[in-house]
Amino acid sequence: MNLNFEIASGPKVIFGRQSVLKLGEECTKLGMNSPMVLTDPGLKSSGAIDVVFESLEKAKINFHLYDNVEANPSDTSIVDANHKFIEVGCDSFIAAGGGSTMDTAKAVSVLFANGGKLSDWYGIGKILKPSPPLISIPTTAGTGSEVTNSSIVTDTELQIKTTVRNDTMFANLAIVDSSLLAKLPKELAAGALMDALTHSIESIGSPKSSPWTEGLANKSIELICRYAREYIDDRSVEKSADAISLAATLAGTAFGNTGLGIVHSLAHPLGAYHQLHHGTANGIFLPSVMRFNLPKMKKKYAEMNTLLSQNDENFKNQDELEQAEDTINKIDELARDIEIPKTLRELDITKKNLEVMSKDAAESNQVKTNPVQPTENDLKKLYEELL
Ligand SMILES: [Fe+2]
Repeated sequence: MNLNFEIASGPKVIFGRQSVLKLGEECTKLGMNSPMVLTDPGLKSSGAIDVVFESLEKAKINFHLYDNVEANPSDTSIVDANHKFIEVGCDSFIAAGGGSTMDTAKAVSVLFANGGKLSDWYGIGKILKPSPPLISIPTTAGTGSEVTNSSIVTDTELQIKTTVRNDTMFANLAIVDSSLLAKLPKELAAGALMDALTHSIESIGSPKSSPWTEGLANKSIELICRYAREYIDDRSVEKSADAISLAATLAGTAFGNTGLGIVHSLAHPLGAYHQLHHGTANGIFLPSVMRFNLPKMKKKYAEMNTLLSQNDENFKNQDELEQAEDTINKIDELARDIEIPKTLRELDITKKNLEVMSKDAAESNQVKTNPVQPTENDLKKLYEELL
């Protein structure tokens, strides 16, 4: 058991149905007079976050709407949002959306506070000046970005996804309200859910994993495996939507402290080169990568099985390796049940860019926290198996 660890516990969290109604009063408490509300155009037009605007209007908060957030946000979109923030004279951020929106707000806050070019701040721990206040409101239950101190951005010139990370980027408050998930399209909900599950499983495999983060990650895995099917069937059911929201936020705190693994190394280039949804890409790679990591993860995967097999009589007669393999099979089965594609071929993704994607994956930060160190060729083979 690793009993030498550091934990950044992140922002205050207000969890619960209708907690978004407290947004206006929470802005006042944080001294936010003219926040920029960031969201994406689809979410804005769906009406799913009207309740955000109503809460701000009720509290007489004078906000500016920025609804141009991109999926897989680019450096240029962050520069654009920062220009608007300065032009309008905003003093704080509210990010209402999925990971792209929350990551955009964090990256814009870094650029606003520190100036220069966004690329000056790529990497970990380079930022010196504190960011303006930020409230994050997740609407997809997946990325955990509401409780992490990092932002994933796509550099359009280098054609890579990269990270900006520092403790100054933590939101001041995360409002996690599962009633916002009711209108989330099924396919997006399934991808986001697999993202959260991947965060927890990769967090447990990281050498930085500790009893603190394992507790969070294990609870998250248990909730996802128990409630995923019911949630994907109908996102408006309170019990399962609450369970998945909680799981995603717990997973965010876990991986925010441990780092991730090569499911993410493989998924990010697919976002950069083929615009594949991040969570869907993770869901496709997760079972293959668990098999790749099995030599180092046998005990942990077997322990995970106890969370998934409470009523399974066969489980009691299995040895450790059988239990570990059974865990992988159960994760695979879950992905199929919620209609995550089994291969990249099914999505008509070709071998185009395979060499450069393998190279980018091998150079990613997540390789360092994967339990088994892969070569570039190992990563290429993992792509090839699914292409
Ligand atoms: Fe992720």
